[in-house]
Amino acid sequence: MIPESLATVGYLFAAILFIQALAGLSNQETARRGNIYGIVGMVIAIAVTIGIVADLAWAWAIGPVVAGATIGVLWASTVPMTSMPQMVAILNSFVGLGAVFVSYSSFLDPPAGLTGVEQTIHDIEVYVDVTVGALTFTGSVIAYGKLGGMIRSQPVLVPGRHLLNLVVLGVVVGAGVPFVGEMSAANLMWLSLNAGLAGLLGLHMVMAIGGADMPVVVSLLNSYSGWAAAAAGFLLSNDLLIITGALVGSSGAILSYIMCRGMNRSLTNVILGGWGTQAGGGSSEGGEDQGDATSVETDEVVQALRGAERVVIVPGYGMAVAGAQHAVSRLTDKLRDAGVEVRFAIHPVAGRMPGHMNVLLAEADVPYDIVDELEVANRSLGETDVALVVGANDIVNPDAVDDPSTPIYGMPQIEVWNAKRVVIVKRSLSPGYAGVPNPLFYRDNTWMYFGDATDRVEDLLAAID
Ligand code: TAP
Repeated sequence: MIPESLATVGYLFAAILFIQALAGLSNQETARRGNIYGIVGMVIAIAVTIGIVADLAWAWAIGPVVAGATIGVLWASTVPMTSMPQMVAILNSFVGLGAVFVSYSSFLDPPAGLTGVEQTIHDIEVYVDVTVGALTFTGSVIAYGKLGGMIRSQPVLVPGRHLLNLVVLGVVVGAGVPFVGEMSAANLMWLSLNAGLAGLLGLHMVMAIGGADMPVVVSLLNSYSGWAAAAAGFLLSNDLLIITGALVGSSGAILSYIMCRGMNRSLTNVILGGWGTQAGGGSSEGGEDQGDATSVETDEVVQALRGAERVVIVPGYGMAVAGAQHAVSRLTDKLRDAGVEVRFAIHPVAGRMPGHMNVLLAEADVPYDIVDELEVANRSLGETDVALVVGANDIVNPDAVDDPSTPIYGMPQIEVWNAKRVVIVKRSLSPGYAGVPNPLFYRDNTWMYFGDATDRVEDLLAAID
C-alpha cells in the first residue's frame, strides 16, 4: 500500500492531466496531445487507486484492469469513425452501471460510525446515485441500440407518456423518503424499486426520441454519467473521482448546450420530441412554387472551378454517408496546385455528431489551417467564386435567416448564397435532417450537381487535369 501523501500527489497530477486533456481536445491541432494527456492521467489514476487498496486486495483488481484495457484498446482501434457515437453511448452505460454497483455496495457495507446527519447524507448520496446511474445505464443502452441499428430509430410514443414519466418520477422521489429516514429492513426494497423505476424512466425517455436526435441525447447522458461518477466519488471518499465526474458532467452539459444552440433548439425540445419525430416533419409553408432547380453536368462544374480564384467547400452529412472526404481532399490538392485558393467552411452541427466534419477532414489529411468555422467563413463568402456544397442541406438554408415560419428559423447558417456561384452535390432535392424544404436549390446562382458525393467528386477529379 502506497503512503497517503503519494496517493494525494498522484491524484492531483492525474486531475491536472484530465483538465489539460479537455483543453487539448477543444482544438483540432492540439487534440492528439489532449488525448495523450488523458491516457497518461488515467494510467496514473488507476495505478494510484490500485496502490491505495489495503493488503493484497489489489491483486483482485489486476485481472479486470488488464481485461478491460485489452478489450478497450482492441475495440477503439477497430471501431469505424461513423460508429463513434454508439461507442460513446455504450461506454456511458458502463459508468451508469458502475455507479449503481458502487451505491449498492456502500449501502450494504456502509462506512463505520455513521450517525445522525452523516448517515442521512450518506443515504441521500446512495439513493441519488442509484437513480442517476440506473437512468444513465438504460438510456445509454437504448441510445446504443438506436445508433447501431439494433433498435428501430423511430420514436416510440406511448400515449400519455409525459404523464407516465411524471408519475414514475414522483414514485422515485416518494420512495426516497422512507429510504432516507429510519434504517429498516425495507430499505433494500426501496432502493431496488428506485433502481428499477429509474431504469424504466431512462429506457422510456430515450425510446421516445428519434434516432437522429441521439447525438444530443448521448452528450446529455454523458453528462449524467459524469454526475453519477462524481456522486460515487463522494461515497468512496475519492477526490479524483469527484473531480473527474464533475469534469465529465459539466463538459457533457456544455456540449449539449452548444449542439442545441447550433440547431437553434432547446434541450427540452430535443428531449420531448422535435425534428425528425413527426411524420413528414417540418414546415410546408415553403411549399409554394419554388421554380425549377438548375441541374448541371461535370463539364460545367469543372469550368466554374477552373475559372475560380477562390473556392469554399461546405461539407455535410452526405459527405460522411458517401465517405467522400478522401476524394474531396484530393480535389482540394488539385485545385490548390492549380493556384486556386480553397477553404473549408464548417458548421458546428454539420453531420450527426460534434466535430464530425473536422474529424473526417483530419482523417483525409486536409490541412487544419484552411478549415474555417462558421463566423469566419461567412465573412468572406461574398468574395468567393464557387461555394461547393458536398452533401449538406440544413446548414445552408436561407429560410433559416429569412423565413420566421420555418422550424429552423434562427439556426445559424453558412451563407453560401452570397458566393457568385453555388454548386450543390447531393442525390435529389429532398430535405435534410430537419425535414424542411431548401429554397437555395432554386436560386439563380445555384447549380444542382446530382449524384452520390464520392462519384461526383471523383468525376470532377477525372475531368480536371
Ligand atoms: P442534412 O441536413 O441532414 O443533409 C444531408 C444531405 O446529404 C441530405 O439532404 C442528402 O440529400 C445528402 N446525402 C445523403 N447521402 C448522400 C450521398 N451519398 N451523396 C451525396 N449527398 C448525400 O445534413 P447537414 O447539412 O450536415 O446538417 C446536419 C443536420 O443534422 C442539421 O439539421 C443538424 O441540426 C442535425 N444534427 C446534427 C448533430 C450534430 S452534433 N452534428 C446532431 C443532431 C442533429 P439526398 O438524399 O438528396 O442525397
